[in-house]
Amino acid sequence: MIRDWKSSDNVAIAELEKKCFSYPWNYDMVCETQVQNNFCGVVAVIGEKVVGYAGAIFAMDIADIALVAVDPEFRRQKIAESAVKALIDKLIEKEIEKIFLEVRVSNLPARSLYKKVGFQEIGIRKNYYEDAEDAIVMALVVGSEN
Ligand SMILES: CC(C)(COP(=O)(O)OP(=O)(O)OC[C@H]1O[C@@H](n2cnc3c(N)ncnc32)[C@H](O)[C@@H]1OP(=O)(O)O)[C@@H](O)C(=O)NCCC(=O)NCCS
Repeated sequence: MIRDWKSSDNVAIAELEKKCFSYPWNYDMVCETQVQNNFCGVVAVIGEKVVGYAGAIFAMDIADIALVAVDPEFRRQKIAESAVKALIDKLIEKEIEKIFLEVRVSNLPARSLYKKVGFQEIGIRKNYYEDAEDAIVMALVVGSEN
């Protein structure tokens, strides 16, 4: 089930960050972002357990997807796809017209996921990550012209 991301999910999400990333967001970073008015997020739950999440920061009609991951034990079940699609729908409700994100060049699963839900690769940010890996910038236009 996909539902809105609540502040009570932040502990579980910070734990998943540790499981899923070599440079995870810590609990304080997750909370500071999630509490903002310009944050929009969803979580995937199985029973009571948070197994995935997708979150974006927005301003005016532009959003940036900042957080996406699925528990390694629950991957390849379309959980990320469902979560990202649900997040996009919520952003459209907020009259967002363009959605951007950055993804590691080496992260082929995530690049494939984002292409599948409609994003296009539009550029590269050199040395974007802590370890100097480049980021691919991806964009999705969801405005009224679509
Ligand atoms: C990327 C990630 C979120 C995908 O989660 P998931 O729930 O397993 O993905 P889904 O099952 O929804 O897959 C949807 C699509 O993504 C792509 N995909 C997902 N995992 C993939 C893999 N291991 N290899 C290739 N493509 C993959 C495929 O296009 C897939 O569609 P398909 O099943 O029809 O082939 C997950 O691997 C993850 O948490 N990775 C670590 C954190 C991360 O990299 N987050 C993104 C940061 S930008």
